Amino acid sequence: MYEFAPAPGQAKPEFYADLLAAADALTADEPDRVANMANLAALIWQFVPALNWAGFYRVIGDELVLGPFIGKPACIRIAIGQGVCGTAAQSGHTQTVADVHAFPGHIACDAASASELVVPLVHEGKVVGVIDLDSPDRARFDAEDAAGIEALAALVAGRIA
Ligand code: SME
Repeated sequence: MYEFAPAPGQAKPEFYADLLAAADALTADEPDRVANMANLAALIWQFVPALNWAGFYRVIGDELVLGPFIGKPACIRIAIGQGVCGTAAQSGHTQTVADVHAFPGHIACDAASASELVVPLVHEGKVVGVIDLDSPDRARFDAEDAAGIEALAALVAGRIA
């Protein structure tokens, strides 16, 4: 059993530092990428507040294909360049969307989603997937959330590719 519990009332940078250490411990010695993505989705879901979807899309050919996640069943294939996830994958840049309904081409997988954070996973210079977090709260994600998930993505990209 893996025990992890962030200290209550932590500031976001400290919380994400702890989450990073937990993600490292969960994935460092495991070569199976599906197992690693599944555990990371569960870790994020359990400890990052106010989410209604947390998981992975993987770059396969010219598409993103759904990976392990927690939340409602979601779109399986997203063209690179489409939606928030496809934009993150194409640009290689984190997408922090305060209001998904105002994002041109947003792909609605759960009507409850109001804001979204998508962070590219870059391994050996290539985008190999994205981490996608959805929230039912508008403007749920700020620069500290983005920095925290980017650090996690940098740590795990080679363990899920
Ligand atoms: N909203 C995403 C699609 C994936 S779901 O949110 C899980 C997008 O626009 O790419």
